[in-house]
Amino acid sequence: MSVLIKNATIVNAEESRQGDLLVANGLIDRIAPKIDVPADRVIDASGNYLIPGGIDVHTHMNIDVGIAKSCDDFYSGTVAAAFGGTTTIVDHMGFGPAGCSLHHQLEVYKEWAADQAVIDYSFHGTIQHINDDILDEMASMVDDGISSFKLYLTYGYKLGDSDVLKALLRLNELNALTCVHPENDSAVNFLRKRMLASGQTDPIFHALSRPAECEAEAISRMINLAALADAAPLYIVHLSNSAGLDYIRLAQQKGQPVFAETCPQYLFLDMQRYQQKGEEGLKYILSPPLREAWNQDKLWAGMNDGSIDTVATDHCTFTLEQKRMGLGDFTKCPNGLPGVETRLPLMFSEGVMKGRMSINRFVELVSAKPAKMFGMYPQKGVIREGADADLVLIDPAKEVTITKEKQHGNCDYTPYEGFKLQGYPVLTMLRGSILVENDQFHGEAGQGRFIRRKQLDEKFRLRR
Ligand code: URP
Ligand code: ZN
Ligand code: ZN
Ligand code: ZN
Repeated sequence: MSVLIKNATIVNAEESRQGDLLVANGLIDRIAPKIDVPADRVIDASGNYLIPGGIDVHTHMNIDVGIAKSCDDFYSGTVAAAFGGTTTIVDHMGFGPAGCSLHHQLEVYKEWAADQAVIDYSFHGTIQHINDDILDEMASMVDDGISSFKLYLTYGYKLGDSDVLKALLRLNELNALTCVHPENDSAVNFLRKRMLASGQTDPIFHALSRPAECEAEAISRMINLAALADAAPLYIVHLSNSAGLDYIRLAQQKGQPVFAETCPQYLFLDMQRYQQKGEEGLKYILSPPLREAWNQDKLWAGMNDGSIDTVATDHCTFTLEQKRMGLGDFTKCPNGLPGVETRLPLMFSEGVMKGRMSINRFVELVSAKPAKMFGMYPQKGVIREGADADLVLIDPAKEVTITKEKQHGNCDYTPYEGFKLQGYPVLTMLRGSILVENDQFHGEAGQGRFIRRKQLDEKFRLRR
């Protein structure tokens, strides 16, 4: 099927231009000021922006966190993504059985996604322990198209410093990217215990037991360990606060290859949400927690000056019933929020339309840079001849109020209830086939493909 898109404002990270675009055989066939050829479908995109499909490099579909299993699988989660203009996810796989190999989890997840995903997908390798077998196996994971790996400094499978160093050295050697969830586990556990012991069980104590200092300390520790590991490239996931950003900037100024991701929840929501009574406050429990509102301007500045590289979501959904397990004890509430559908619309409305960032920087944060850092560029993340025709049309005149009824995932609430957005995706295309148009879904389960990702580009061995 061929599609001719006419009169669009075509936006890439580097520049914007007016023109027509022809899609054929799933690829972008031609871009020119005027194209007049017959096509199966002609779309007049006057007044709309055409951007490369959104790439969310931090989701947790179908994840089992021990106390609960998330309510979105690779079908519901990727349908929601498609409605919000996202055409590729890189999922952070959950932990497997104790002692299991890296490929074990990969095969489990590939099977789920192959049957269910409506958009393209890949996975970050999940490191749950370090030994010689795992270090060996990293090479074959890279050969299988998995060029980034995630390690945790907290939760059940946290790594100690010597294992972190082994992982960093090995991944550096393999030209793979080390991603980290940084929180000081020992300090968090001390604070949690102290709070529970004194009856401080409300949602606000979730935030107070995981303060910004715990995250910032772990970020600075990781930065130093990465420097020790022959300047291994390091990617900080879900950065929530200004103190952590200060450490990241300092390392970047020295030329160390340290990269950072933030998420909409840290830009649009703050700690006040935990003051709400009953289940209301539980809706926002995630780690790292929402911060004091003043951090938000610092994160916006970081996105604009280039010290924050990507905006992803950490989409990890639980129903209100699941969240209610935390009534009377915040530590019993499964951690995570929905976000995969609202990421791109929120960033466009609150970023671009409110004049807080250029539309090119927006495209860079939500699509181009994620594609580059995670080995999918220029197949994805750019509107260019020969690239996958993963395309999203945004109508800047469309006004949408976010409500849970209008969401397409399985979660029965949205943290952004009542947000009034200016501008919204009106068409989402994956490799030339229309997934969503005017609020109608046209995709099918299993049409997403596994994307084999390349090793880290040489230029990311140095900061810029
Ligand atoms: O609370 C969160 N973020 N849950 C998902 C797992 C993680 O830490 O990324
Ligand atoms: Zn296994
Ligand atoms: Zn995390
Ligand atoms: Zn996560």
